Amino acid sequence: MRIGQQSHTQMVNHCVYFQKNCVNIVIMLTKQLLIVSHAPSPNTLELLEAVRSGAQHSDIEGIDVIVRTPFDATVDDVLDANAIILGTTENLGYMSGALKDFFDRIYYPCLEHTRGLPYCCYIRAGHDGTGTKRAIDTIVTGLRWRAVQEPLVCRGTYEDRFVEECRELGMAMAAGLESGIF
Ligand SMILES: Cc1cc2nc3c(=O)[nH]c(=O)nc-3n(C[C@H](O)[C@H](O)[C@H](O)COP(=O)(O)O)c2cc1C
Repeated sequence: MRIGQQSHTQMVNHCVYFQKNCVNIVIMLTKQLLIVSHAPSPNTLELLEAVRSGAQHSDIEGIDVIVRTPFDATVDDVLDANAIILGTTENLGYMSGALKDFFDRIYYPCLEHTRGLPYCCYIRAGHDGTGTKRAIDTIVTGLRWRAVQEPLVCRGTYEDRFVEECRELGMAMAAGLESGIF
């Protein structure tokens, strides 16, 4: 068996080509994009679906998109992730209790193992969003995760443009992972 003419970077990036008996076998090395989102209403479900569909854009290859509610997401989900998208509503000036529960459960088990994890977040806020943005920033600063996009705050009366913005957020995260930017 001979490994073909790929550079090392090309090989470890997405595909490894093996040549055996004149047959090329391509093994895809997928990366995992984890979406942890609290979506308690039809609007927030629509935003989550937009993030997911952007991340699963047909032009993007080699990315496994895993969607979890904050209550279902586990430490292993985070340890296995190559990048993470956090989604929450703003409730009483803070992130949802569901997302806070996620952080409470994964913080110490992940602290020494996920430094530099690329992340971004989107927030659905009826009025404001500032408190949630600050709260998430405080926790991920402690975890030393790496913000690779500005937080997206879908603020005020629900608008159709939020859907497109969420789709773009998901697509940008997946495309960044695919290309190895992160
Ligand atoms: C109990 C409760 C508290 C809320 N607190 C805030 C808040 O502090 N700031 C804010 O911007 N929106 C607040 N909202 C509005 C929610 O963020 C918003 O309703 C939620 O994101 C769902 O969006 P949707 O109404 O478009 O489905 C609150 C909603 C509820 C039910």
